[in-house]
Amino acid sequence: GLRVYRYPLNNLNTLYKEIVMSFPKDFFWGASTSSAQCEGGYDCDGKGMTIWDVKPLNPGCCSFHYASDFYHHYKEDIALMGEMGFKMFRLSISWARILPEGEGEINQAGLDFYKDVFRECHKYGIEPLVTIFHFDLPLALQQKYGSWNNRRMGEAYVNYCRILFENFRDDVKYWLTYNEQNMLIYYGAVDMVGGTMKLQDMNDLYNQAHNQLVAQAKAIHLCHELCPDAMIGPAPNITTAYPADSNPENYLAALNNDDLRNNFYLDALVFGRYPASMNNYFEKNGIHIEAQEGDFECMRTCHPDFIGFNCYGNDTVEYCDYYELDLSDFEGGDNRKMSYLQKLAEKPGVAKAVSNTKFPQGEDGHRFDPYCIRVTARRLTDRYHLPLIITENGYGRPDTLEDDGTVHDSYRIEHLRETIRQMSIGIDEGAMLIGYCPWSAIDLVSTREGITKRYGFVYVDRDEDDEKAKDAEMKRYRKDSFYWYKKVIASNGKELD
Ligand code: BG6
Repeated sequence: GLRVYRYPLNNLNTLYKEIVMSFPKDFFWGASTSSAQCEGGYDCDGKGMTIWDVKPLNPGCCSFHYASDFYHHYKEDIALMGEMGFKMFRLSISWARILPEGEGEINQAGLDFYKDVFRECHKYGIEPLVTIFHFDLPLALQQKYGSWNNRRMGEAYVNYCRILFENFRDDVKYWLTYNEQNMLIYYGAVDMVGGTMKLQDMNDLYNQAHNQLVAQAKAIHLCHELCPDAMIGPAPNITTAYPADSNPENYLAALNNDDLRNNFYLDALVFGRYPASMNNYFEKNGIHIEAQEGDFECMRTCHPDFIGFNCYGNDTVEYCDYYELDLSDFEGGDNRKMSYLQKLAEKPGVAKAVSNTKFPQGEDGHRFDPYCIRVTARRLTDRYHLPLIITENGYGRPDTLEDDGTVHDSYRIEHLRETIRQMSIGIDEGAMLIGYCPWSAIDLVSTREGITKRYGFVYVDRDEDDEKAKDAEMKRYRKDSFYWYKKVIASNGKELD
């Protein structure tokens, strides 16, 4: 039989009934971007500064000031998405373009820009899937409030949401609250996107998470009140922890790791409580959540309409005993190194990441696991019974623009093809997947590795040199994956070769 939604709120019910064999008729094929990574125009038309406009960069990497200049190329870019047959385009709004100071005065030019972007999308029958906040916090807010430990930050977020809901009620039907809130906490002992080491206090960190979760619930309540036809969900980075072997201790480590990395955030959102194993973790790490009256009730009653999740690979873990983790020798470390992130994912008393030798290692050190999306979609379906949209997935690496304007990215096609195959089997097995928006629609600036690491279906002609980028034409070129994805979409996921 078919599953019934916990919150039968909208037409997704009908949609799911069609998801019996592979991709449903109205499956949302598309791709993603984020404001800071693709827009450029960092000081155009009244936009305020964001923490991304001023953050220290890794050596040799371009800034986010000019990015892919989507700000001036959006018509052309959305036309290319239309040509690929996109049904959905995930993009984020730059908070500081709407509210230069993060709160207070509204910048009309910012509202006008996004209105026009949404108008262009609708011209091609593309649904915008809009991330409200994707890493680029207005600098003024950070200067004023410090961090999310100050509840005023959450209030500023909810006020910003209100402005978006009121102004884009007729333009946007699908909203995402935050991008990867969980990663900022999970890897949060360091400023993961800043290229600098900043040790954080665990108690502060998890209280930030709590405050963000409360603000998120408030935003969802508000969305349902102001935009009754819209749907709203989160966009964390969710995967599944595989135990390193059949040792039950490693299986338990995998369960606890999932609680810490994934379920903590989604249980709070959907059930209004934290997984019980987290109490253990909090106790061992001297964490005390300073919840206020009504916080959990607000979460329990907010009812997200779907779950968006980014998924790039699995976690493979084994148990590790409790010990004091010393990260001080990481000071000034290079956050582009995988070992760096692996160390930050080491959670004493919970789990330690190990290499999964089941998957061969590519020449760039990457072990591609096409199954994790299917496993994770199954797991999320079973736990939350909500429709799922993959908000990110993909393969970043350098591409070569040939003299004749072609880009042969067979590695990317291979990667996406195997992922889509597993998604399709997952759907047949009951995973409630309704959309796929890989990273990224067009080339954009990586969080830590400049423009050299590319993810797009469309090549953007620029290099790491900011001075050149300032006036560059940034011509767009269709990659091989562009033509391939167009066929995939036209055949609704049947033609993968
Ligand atoms: C996700 C982020 O974590 O991964 C994106 O939401 C990011 O903003 C993407 O760009 C790819 O990571 P990276 O570090 O290669 O840019």
